[in-house]
Amino acid sequence: MRKNTLFLLGAAILLLTACNQQIVEADYDVIPQPKEVNLNSDGHFLIAATTKVYYEEGLQREAEFLNEYANEILGYPLQTVAYNGQDRGIVLTITPEEFDKAEAYEIDVTPQRVNIKGADAAGVFYGIQTLRKSLPIAPPDTKLPAFLPCGTIRDWPEFGYRGMHLDPCRHFMDLDSVKIYIDMLALHNMNQFHFHLSEDQGWRIEIKKYPELTQVGAYRNGTVIGHNSNLYDSVRYGGYYTQDELRDLIQYAAERHINIIPEIDLPGHMQAALATYPQLGCTGGPYEVWKRWGVSEDVLCAGNEEAMQFAEDVLNEVMDLFPSPYIHIGGDECPKVRWEQCPKCQQKIKELGIKGDERFSKEDYLQSYVMNRMAKVVEARGRRVIGWDEILEGNVSETAIIMSWRGTEGGIEAARKGHDVIMAPYSHLYFDYYQSEDIASEPECIGGYLPVERVYQFQPLPSELTPEQQKHIIGVQANIWTEYIASFKHVQYMAMPRMDALAELQWNNPEERDFDAFVERCRKMAQLYDLYHYNYATHIFNPQAWADTVASNLATGKTVTLRQQPAEKYTFEGAALLNDGNLGRGAYNSGRWLGFSGVPMDAVIDMETPTEMRQVRFRALVNKGAWIYNPSQAVVMVSDDGENYHEVAKKDIPISTWTDRDGIFTYELEFEPLTARYIEVIVTGYDLPEDHSGYGNPAWIFIDEIEVL
Ligand code: ACM
Ligand code: ZN
Repeated sequence: MRKNTLFLLGAAILLLTACNQQIVEADYDVIPQPKEVNLNSDGHFLIAATTKVYYEEGLQREAEFLNEYANEILGYPLQTVAYNGQDRGIVLTITPEEFDKAEAYEIDVTPQRVNIKGADAAGVFYGIQTLRKSLPIAPPDTKLPAFLPCGTIRDWPEFGYRGMHLDPCRHFMDLDSVKIYIDMLALHNMNQFHFHLSEDQGWRIEIKKYPELTQVGAYRNGTVIGHNSNLYDSVRYGGYYTQDELRDLIQYAAERHINIIPEIDLPGHMQAALATYPQLGCTGGPYEVWKRWGVSEDVLCAGNEEAMQFAEDVLNEVMDLFPSPYIHIGGDECPKVRWEQCPKCQQKIKELGIKGDERFSKEDYLQSYVMNRMAKVVEARGRRVIGWDEILEGNVSETAIIMSWRGTEGGIEAARKGHDVIMAPYSHLYFDYYQSEDIASEPECIGGYLPVERVYQFQPLPSELTPEQQKHIIGVQANIWTEYIASFKHVQYMAMPRMDALAELQWNNPEERDFDAFVERCRKMAQLYDLYHYNYATHIFNPQAWADTVASNLATGKTVTLRQQPAEKYTFEGAALLNDGNLGRGAYNSGRWLGFSGVPMDAVIDMETPTEMRQVRFRALVNKGAWIYNPSQAVVMVSDDGENYHEVAKKDIPISTWTDRDGIFTYELEFEPLTARYIEVIVTGYDLPEDHSGYGNPAWIFIDEIEVL
């Protein structure tokens, strides 16, 4: 990033003119940060109500946007005029010969003139976005002339695909809200809106050939309370977008240089469609539009030609409506239990000569058959398919673009196989997760922990890939699933400012990441959020100190060894995390907890010398919706030689019921004072109880900070 700051006077300097009117200087340090800003000593261009915006043919809408922004931000519109060779004012032109990347732009500021040149209309649009974000904001009901410092900004995007996703199925978001979402994307230089239009819990797009989809499939007769408790409200809930509304939305997005990628999630997540047309499922139903969260086992019957025809018809109608070069066909989370039992699916497997192998089952390959068949329908119309990374499980065609969500591994594998890839890993880019560890102070959400800092640190180009393979990473995207996000205001709160961090990754993928400088740019962006009445999270602006360490104890600084390994995802620094002095806090994936599934936590601490002790204390996290329960038993053993252990304390802990409180629990095991060199702590979990939707599966245990006293 080259940046000449010699003449950069800093943010928003107040200048006073002869008549004492305030004029405020623009500040080009915006989000995403422009790549090259070279200011000079030529002075300023003054923007006032008399300023004219000249536009070349094809850029009238861009000129109007600039006008609207001036009106919102400075308090007055500018004058838009078709370009006539004038040399004073703001001039919008397209000059592809001056750029080697699509969507690139240059802003050249002299005292007489501001040239905004783009490689294409989108480039001009992004130049206007940068100018918009640079402007000082007028106090309410005032008009504020603004100085643009003279110099040149040159800027271009690193990734051609810069996306955000929204799920209006679990909770419906009305058309006006979706337009505001598109506005938010435009403000952050994003160009792809992934619109997830079908789900177990609701079908949201009018399909003329199947009108019952939105009469029946768009409404559920109630919604589960909390995290899949067994309680439901009885409120009919739903909604859908008509094709006319969607055409309007597509146009609205296109004006903002945003493509809408429709997703029809196949062949799983289809229960709302099955509720409408039960004959399309393996069992024939009856089905209801699902009232719970999670992954339904009832999916489209892959052995039923009518079901395949249905999917093809829907995709064709979706393509009639959406001009998007990409069509998302889902492919995630498709349980195979129905297909395993279904005579039609098994017959299809026979017919196709499908065999399972050591990597994938025959039903996995049956899903590949469905995905490849749908891909053909999409490709026949000159479009490309996107699928979630599960579609790699089998033999999906190389033309499919893989959206890597279960980490980056799927994306890495896909790029190696020659697929194009969009990185959207839940580890860094699932904005439905908590953004603060203080979850008691947050609106309830699905769980997890994903602060802005973590988003900002994401590296979209895996170092495991060669530079040639890295070229397959065409984009970066964040997802917002709405099981626990019932309102659009809450969507905004989950999105911002994490999407500021995302915007910087997508547009710049900066080598150096200065989080503090980024936060300063966010502060400026937050002023625009306030202006537009956007709801956003403010944690990064108010860093708080927490009491989150434990006092030194006998385990401090000693070596801990684990006899059973935690799950790979929840290992972090491993055993040392158990006595590093940092307490685990709210979120299970904060890096401060070790998570175990199906095995006990079994830790041995070497005290180095025979040591007197009388108590062991440890903490466990309970988040039942996330399958994390308290342990059922803790045992303490000691040894002098590290070989022969005997038990000195044991605690049985009652099994939780669904209505018990979630949170962090401390367990203490006391014993007669004794002297030993080795101490072993074994903490055992249990299987999910009957009142849990995952009944019979092992519950997780999450443990942190073993203290010995
Ligand atoms: C997903 O989050 N199921 C793609
Ligand atoms: Zn079937």
